[in-house]
Parts: sequence; C-alpha cells; structure tokens
Amino acid sequence: MTCVAVAQLAVALFAIAPLASARSAAAQQPVAEPDTGSITPAMVEAGRAIFHGRGTCFACHGMKLEGGPVAPTLLAHAWRDAKNGDYKAIIGVVSHGVPGTAMVAYPGGIAKSEVPIVAAYVWSATRGRVKP
Ligand code: HEC
Repeated sequence: MTCVAVAQLAVALFAIAPLASARSAAAQQPVAEPDTGSITPAMVEAGRAIFHGRGTCFACHGMKLEGGPVAPTLLAHAWRDAKNGDYKAIIGVVSHGVPGTAMVAYPGGIAKSEVPIVAAYVWSATRGRVKP
C-alpha cells in the first residue's frame, strides 16, 4: 500500500466514524412516552401490515383480531395483560411478552421500532377507529 492510499484510508475512516457514533447515540435515546395523539393513519396501516405479516400476530389472535384456540381476541374484551387495552399497555405486552405463555416478546422477531406501530393498529382496531 502506498503512503497516499494509507492517507486516503485514514481520511475515509475519519469521515465514517462520526456517522457511526451519531447512529448509536440515537439508538440509546430513551423512547418517548407513547402518545395516541402521535398515531397517524399511515402508522395504523403499517401496523396492519406487521400484524398480518412479519409479526405473525394473526396466526394466534386471528385475521380479524377475533382470537382463536391459542390466544384471546384483541378487540374490546376484559384485558388480562394489556391493562384497559391502553396503547402503552399494548406496547408493554408486545415488548415484554406474557411470561409462561405463547405470547413472546417481539413476536415474529419484529424490531423494537415496529412495536409502537403494530400497537397503533391494535389500539385503533380495539377502539373501533379502524376495521380490524
Ligand atoms: C404464538 C401465538 C401468539 C402470537 C404470534 C402473538 N400472540 Fe399475543 N398473545 C398470545 C397469548 C396466548 C396471549 C395471552 C397470554 C395470557 O395467557 O395471558 C396473548 C396476549 C396478547 C395481548 C394481551 C391481551 C390481553 O387480554 O391483555 C396483546 C395486546 C397481544 N397478545 C398482542 C399481540 C401482537 C400485537 C402480536 C404480534 C406482534 C402478537 N400478540 C402475537 C399469543 C400470541
């Protein structure tokens, strides 16, 4: 490697480093308090896609959130784990799961960032704001 190449490599690494550290700083920022006011129709539709796709929620909770042999309905019901069916409580269940049951944390291996999105869909459907 020539001296010039080494110098160019050093410059390139120097340019990348701040980007990488900015990204990890963003990842460490505390998650803002979930607020139903921040739920948009686009977010609900994205959540619908996660529910019926990668999140695999439909497999246990039903195509229309009606529940099934394995899991309870997610439409209005006597909530057992997600207290009052509140947005924050739904986020909590999807993030932590229900220990000792088939409800695992991050079902389908969804990302942490996808949890509020799929929860926005469940919350909106359970409140009758959108069709399940
Ligand atoms: C493998 C089956 C399975 C999958 C997949 C699954 N769940 Fe569940 N879920 C359950 C079971 C079982 C319970 C009830 C746990 C208990 O016995 O209290 C539950 C409970 C819940 C509850 C709380 C219900 C209540 O009455 O408080 C919510 C909310 C929920 N799931 C959302 C989701 C979402 C959103 C997804 C997809 C990201 C998902 N679940 C994927 C099985 C599943």
